Amino acid sequence: MFRVPHRDDGARATLARPESRMPMFRADQMFRTKQIATVSDDIGKTGLRRSLGAFDMVMLGIGAAVGTGIFVLTGVAAARYAGPGIMLSFVLSSVVCGLVCLAYSELASSIPAAGSAYTYSYVAAGEFVAWLVGWNLILEYSVGACAVAGGWSAYLVGILKSAGIELPKAITAVPHDGGVVNLPAMLIIAFVTVLLVRGIRESAAVNRTLVGLKLGTIFLFLLLAGPRVDVTNWTPFLPFGWAGISAGAAIIFFAYLGVDSLTTAAEETRNPRRDVPIGIIVSLAICTLLYVAVAAVLTGVVPFARLDTAEPVTYALRTLGYNFGSALVGVGAISGLTTVCLVMIYAQTRAFFAMARDGLIPPALCRVHPRYGTPHVATILVGSVVAVMAGFTPIGLVAEMCNIGTLFAFVVVSACVLVLRRTQPDLPRPFRCPAAVVVVPLAIASSLYIMMSLSGATWVRFVVWTAVGIVVYAGYGARHSRLNQPTAVAAVA
Ligand code: ALA
Repeated sequence: MFRVPHRDDGARATLARPESRMPMFRADQMFRTKQIATVSDDIGKTGLRRSLGAFDMVMLGIGAAVGTGIFVLTGVAAARYAGPGIMLSFVLSSVVCGLVCLAYSELASSIPAAGSAYTYSYVAAGEFVAWLVGWNLILEYSVGACAVAGGWSAYLVGILKSAGIELPKAITAVPHDGGVVNLPAMLIIAFVTVLLVRGIRESAAVNRTLVGLKLGTIFLFLLLAGPRVDVTNWTPFLPFGWAGISAGAAIIFFAYLGVDSLTTAAEETRNPRRDVPIGIIVSLAICTLLYVAVAAVLTGVVPFARLDTAEPVTYALRTLGYNFGSALVGVGAISGLTTVCLVMIYAQTRAFFAMARDGLIPPALCRVHPRYGTPHVATILVGSVVAVMAGFTPIGLVAEMCNIGTLFAFVVVSACVLVLRRTQPDLPRPFRCPAAVVVVPLAIASSLYIMMSLSGATWVRFVVWTAVGIVVYAGYGARHSRLNQPTAVAAVA
């Protein structure tokens, strides 16, 4: 079985040292950075298969992004926070994401590593910041996948119900909500996990088909409902004032989660320096157009106050008398949520792969399957944990944490662009963030602004989660970091 050369042979002895003789955690270790040469060396020996092109990148971006945000949250955000101004909330979120995506694109083109934000931070800001980014990406990818699996189950139950099949609550709800287990949520995670173990090419092919289906149903919605827009429904446009726009943006920011996840596919892309930036920018542009269009039509066909439902798109079509269209869009939503789970779990495994390669988490997580060319151990572990969480915990209650974890990574990644421009001016940058001195501070400020719009409870959870991460780093990562090897220490020095 192929095993990524996690530590070179000469250092194997270091690895085998008894715990008592391992280097102690020291504060100065926290700021040691990973050398670009080491990153390039790692990428060369990755063992993952390079089979994705620019089109796959765009499909992965749309696959990860278009889901709960547009199919579920838009209605609630319009009804409770922004009114028809939800269109502007989408524009605001997309501007924030657009600025950050320019930063991501520059880094992805110069450091095309599986760890994405985590690796960029390791190179620019040091081990501790990288750890915090990697730790908080768990919120985006694993907690995100879990929350979306819950939405997937709810949509399935709804569709079956309208077809006259009622599944018992005991197997469709978590104990907190009066059930025993949310079986559909577990099954969808099991399905995408098996697919991801099987291979990236196979996963990308399924992703392409399902993305096609969900885009088709969104266009169907726009076609059916677009001509029925009644502009009087857009008045008042801002029933909750301007503040409603940013409050709405903080919620529907979830719809943009995942556009960054395709950067974790850099080591499986044939020409990552070109295709990853194309993927991130094009998929964000497509998502933004779709989101604003859907929000405009939704609030144009139904008075915003009536959109307080978990399935606003199908509800709007039913209201207009398109029951068949509603069922079709429901199927599209199910495919959409499937691809979100698929790409989120995919991204989590690649982030873990990179962290394990650096020694910050156990090395088994960067083992690559000899036949499938996928990090099967990481995939099975992530899939199992996410499935159990989706099946038994009310994870939807903490879904806002995905936003804060992602925004944290956005702030750090943006800052890394400026740091690397200073510390590594000669680093090849096939894609350069235009007007970085303006764009990057704006990206940081706008991400922080949306973070500030999140609730106090979310901030408390975020602080607790980060504190747990620091304990884990001190207890494991700092002691097992590959940079503890004498050769690496010499290189850093
Ligand atoms: N952006 C993804 C969704 O909306 C997480 O489901």
